[in-house]
Amino acid sequence: MPPRHFLTLNDLDRDELDFVLRRAADLKASQREGAPHESLRGKVLGMVFEKSSTRTRVSFEAGMAQLGGSAVFLSPADSQLGRGEPVEDTARVLSRMLDVVMIRTFGHDKIERFAEYSRVPVINGLSDDHHPCQLLADIQTYQEHRGRLDGRTTVAWIGDGNNMCNSWLEAAGIFGFRLNVGCPEGFEPGEAMVALAGGNGHVMRDPLEAVRGAHLVVTDVWASMGQEEEQRQREQAFADYQVTAVMMAEAAEDAVFMHCLPAHRGEEVAADVIDGPQSVVWDEAENRLHAQKALMEFLLLGTGE
Ligand code: CP
Ligand code: NVA
Repeated sequence: MPPRHFLTLNDLDRDELDFVLRRAADLKASQREGAPHESLRGKVLGMVFEKSSTRTRVSFEAGMAQLGGSAVFLSPADSQLGRGEPVEDTARVLSRMLDVVMIRTFGHDKIERFAEYSRVPVINGLSDDHHPCQLLADIQTYQEHRGRLDGRTTVAWIGDGNNMCNSWLEAAGIFGFRLNVGCPEGFEPGEAMVALAGGNGHVMRDPLEAVRGAHLVVTDVWASMGQEEEQRQREQAFADYQVTAVMMAEAAEDAVFMHCLPAHRGEEVAADVIDGPQSVVWDEAENRLHAQKALMEFLLLGTGE
């Protein structure tokens, strides 16, 4: 059987995503109780990072250790990837030694090529186009705080039509909630990405309109990794898109705020919002650990049925 990969959310069907999310909640409880859950004893995860990371690296490495396995960190600076060894060759070699591989890189096509040549499951730890692991944690967090994310829910994405926005669009298509994307002209998600929402994605200019009545307000950095040189220009383009208390006041009364982090207070989000009572960003960050443990179990062990 070819390995299952997780390059975008759609690599798992709705039932499988629900299974992973339920298991993530169970694993969180086990972790809290100190109950052993070494389901991946002896397994080895490879982590290829071509961009920086705090949460993704630590959550995957700690998660694999807690499941009884171990993790190997690789970056271009200290592997042959940085000296031009083709990704196809790297995939063939690594997947003969490892049980599962996570990659964070720039072009999404690179992860697709890696997966094509890999004998073992490949997980997208962020590409320029998608960040599906973050969405698992975000959905788990919303469910913990507010219950089901379904046709009754409106989510407002404010800011750049970036990799996180694309994964939210994909989630809107799968889970059936409404996603309002409030973004400035020229920074919209691509048409193919909006199509992933299957009619549930609505791109609008006015951030206040996007946020009106929303149950969840989400934002992200204005300049993603790889766009550092555009920082100045983006600060101007996004000046009216900071998530402020005034903006949150337009959302539903019990709306929650999320940000995948790292955050820039005073840019995409005001300090009193991210540090305020509606913010669930620390639970969101913690849930990377639990959601990815459940994902790795699923990719390596299936549902057990
Ligand atoms: N949210 C997220 O992926 O964080 P890191 O870049 O720190 O991994
Ligand atoms: N959009 C951000 C997400 C960081 C986790 C980036 O790609 O840099």
